[in-house]
Amino acid sequence: MSAVRRVGGELWMEGVRLSEVASRFGTPCYAYSRAAIESAWQAFDRALAGTEHLVCYAVKANSNLAVLGILARLGSGFDIVSGGELARVLAAGGRADRVIFSGVGKGEDEIRAALMAGIRCFNVESEPELERLDAIARALGVRAPVSLRVNPDVDARTHPYISTGLKGNKFGIAHDRALAAYGLAASLPNLEVTGIDCHIGSQILDMAPLEEALERVLELAAAVAARGIPLRHVDLGGGLGIRYREEEEALDIGRWCATVAARLAGTGYSLVLEPGRAIVGNAGVLLSRVEYLKLDKGKRFAIVDASMSELIRPALYEAWHEISPLATLDRPEAAYDVVGPVCESSDVLGTDRRLAIAPGDGIAILSAGAYGMVMSSNYNSRPRPAEVVIDGDRAVQVRARETIDSLFAGETTLD
Ligand code: LLP
Repeated sequence: MSAVRRVGGELWMEGVRLSEVASRFGTPCYAYSRAAIESAWQAFDRALAGTEHLVCYAVKANSNLAVLGILARLGSGFDIVSGGELARVLAAGGRADRVIFSGVGKGEDEIRAALMAGIRCFNVESEPELERLDAIARALGVRAPVSLRVNPDVDARTHPYISTGLKGNKFGIAHDRALAAYGLAASLPNLEVTGIDCHIGSQILDMAPLEEALERVLELAAAVAARGIPLRHVDLGGGLGIRYREEEEALDIGRWCATVAARLAGTGYSLVLEPGRAIVGNAGVLLSRVEYLKLDKGKRFAIVDASMSELIRPALYEAWHEISPLATLDRPEAAYDVVGPVCESSDVLGTDRRLAIAPGDGIAILSAGAYGMVMSSNYNSRPRPAEVVIDGDRAVQVRARETIDSLFAGETTLD
């Protein structure tokens, strides 16, 4: 379920005790396991060994340069959604020709930067974006490789905020407009139509909607080919769910890859996948410390030094993250709502958790490697936490904790 294990009452990540990480780098602090990131990426790559493929890690899940660098060394591709993410990938040693650019609102500057870098493909989400891309490519004297993100109208059966494949959603081109959009793309002289893609949502634990989307995309690809527009690749997005709690079953990556590989065999299409969470989600934890235990009308609160500013998923999606003390100590056990110092009632990291803790104790919020730090904010003028990568028995700080001065360094007062 997670890259951590308990040995002798202590939580470890690889060869390092997490309580040591908390004391050395302070809390709150994110820690990621290099080995867990590598093995999650390799699980995809290995399962697709017999199929022409590119695993494009979705940078939005965790864009720390060290994380991107670890994946770039493995030969990973990258799925980006902004010029900022492109710059990060290149700075981390990622190859531009393995970058695909997704997103519903690509700006002119972002498109220009991606064309100049020579990325592999643009996943285009609307007809006006096709026209914009064509115009910028013409001005630069290049042809832009494009794939159309189609909306297969499939219910991913996940949280509505992270479901993207249904009709009426802002993402992708509606299934019934897709053929006409391909016609437009093929008619624009500075575009080269190379593929088709979809992404129906995130944290999907059931393979059925993914298979349904695959069939709809292949049907559409055949119809596009029948119009004289042959496609070379199929991109099935990301969305593969991980295990956050014991009673959950992660989506089986090996099974999904085998299913896709079998379905694509003989079609001539190469495959692109865009997993984010499945690669980094279980590889990271957020370390925190108990500040106070508070009893109020029979309800017990553990007030800790991490908050919705560092990990917003529980507040935003009612997401469940396991919370575990860094050391098993002799403390009275009780059920706590684990909350942060931020002035919002929604600043909750977990409710009704049985924990044996006392003020000063370290805790870990597990499975926080994806959509944790990247969604953090400075709300309540809280400096963003440090990030550390654990690599065997080394703990390397890969992003320094923000200083309070830096929070308002770009601000001025009026005369
Ligand atoms: N490709 C596209 C086009 C996407 O929009 C996404 C995620 C991915 C790939 C990667 O999906 P993954 O494999 O990580 O599920 N903040 C939310 C998740 C938002 C996902 C947005 N799109 C959360 O914390 O659960």
